[in-house]
Amino acid sequence: MANSLGRTFRDIGLNEGNNGKGIRLQGKISLACKVCHVRAVSTRNYQTTLLFLKVFVMKALHQDSEGVRRSYDLTVPPIVRFGSGRIAEVGSIATVLGNRIWLVLGKHSFATCVGRESLLDGFHQHGLEFQEVAHSCGEPTVQQLAKAVRSLPLDRENVVVVAVGGGSTIDFGKALSALATNIDPDTDESAEEMILDRLEGVGRGIPIDTPPLPFVAVPTTAGTGAEATRNAVLSCPKRRFKKSLRSTLMVPRAVVLDPSLIGSCNRNVIAASGIDCLTQLIESFICRSRWSVPRALVLDAFPDAMTALPSLLKNPLDKAAQSSLVHAAFISGVSLGNSGLGLAHGVAAAIGVECGASHGLACAALLPVALRVNQKIAENDLARLNQLLGGEVLPAPDGAQQLVERVIELCRFAGTPTRLSEFGLKRNRIPWVAEHSGGNSMRGNPVQLSLTELVQQLESIF
Ligand SMILES: [Fe+2]
Repeated sequence: MANSLGRTFRDIGLNEGNNGKGIRLQGKISLACKVCHVRAVSTRNYQTTLLFLKVFVMKALHQDSEGVRRSYDLTVPPIVRFGSGRIAEVGSIATVLGNRIWLVLGKHSFATCVGRESLLDGFHQHGLEFQEVAHSCGEPTVQQLAKAVRSLPLDRENVVVVAVGGGSTIDFGKALSALATNIDPDTDESAEEMILDRLEGVGRGIPIDTPPLPFVAVPTTAGTGAEATRNAVLSCPKRRFKKSLRSTLMVPRAVVLDPSLIGSCNRNVIAASGIDCLTQLIESFICRSRWSVPRALVLDAFPDAMTALPSLLKNPLDKAAQSSLVHAAFISGVSLGNSGLGLAHGVAAAIGVECGASHGLACAALLPVALRVNQKIAENDLARLNQLLGGEVLPAPDGAQQLVERVIELCRFAGTPTRLSEFGLKRNRIPWVAEHSGGNSMRGNPVQLSLTELVQQLESIF
């Protein structure tokens, strides 16, 4: 059957199953497109299922029924400065946004941050007042944010919030700048309630609709991509969840990417954040939305990231590797923020809630499983990524397999956990983890697993 682009479904990779009439399973007909991973399942006949698939494929190809490119949204920070030593420019960027700086810093990272003096000199040169208003400690919690909002100075005129630190610090600063203008609590308890009401899928679903204080992100690790996204992930140990505060208004007004800053990171931080970055690049590339602009950016960043991470693990001062990984981390944030993620991120959040596992390490343990689950349906995409890494050009199934092996080898070299038991998870809690691995990330995964299938997958890496 030809579609309106004049191509047959077979041309665009339709998998019609062994009998040429789709895969029949429990009375249903299942058809999948190998190119865009779209699957149509119907209890009706083959032709009807094919028509369903046609509609889904056209959507996934980002074209309407007349072949016109479908509309899309792209959200990225409006100002991005990339380059070694550019932390010195934070002051000149901030003068356009205000005249007083509120600093949000990592508990330990700022004292040892190589760019600290340059940053403060820049503030002095531009006559900017500055004060430290909050320190993040680990992944931000609702309770920490509630206390931080309550202790902010009352005068917020011409304030610019600048966060310098890893992904947790960036998220802390991003959330704080949004909450400062959107809630006005009398007590810590009411602050917590107001935050819960603004978290996705938790409270009353109140939107962040007042523009946040201008926020500038200065990452000192290379991995989370938080500097490029419009959400901040907050955990709530009391109620056992991790959820996002999200609004397009929350995307940072400026990002300063200074690769020299990650020279202060130790090997463990480089490994965890670097694998997080790779997971984000891969998951956003193969996920269901797979928008064309983020995908083009991933194709540019992925091969450099795969080479840079082992180099940086050997020598954290390798300048070429620093710049490649900082760039890739930013691109991973742009890509995940605009396309989505998948299984590794969906489950990592639940593992983090259950046993306090760090996000990057949980992603590292889950990435091989996520690749295995999606390997067949995403084999063209995975083979394409593999081809970028050099070597013999392999057909899709072999290329996808080689990419999986390359990623597993890199995780082994990084020394990140490979078993869920290494996080202190108890075997009898796997069903709870599977049940709480929902959210946007899981919805974006190319293969939709049932609860039983997900439990089986997690059991396999216990
Ligand atoms: Fe991540």
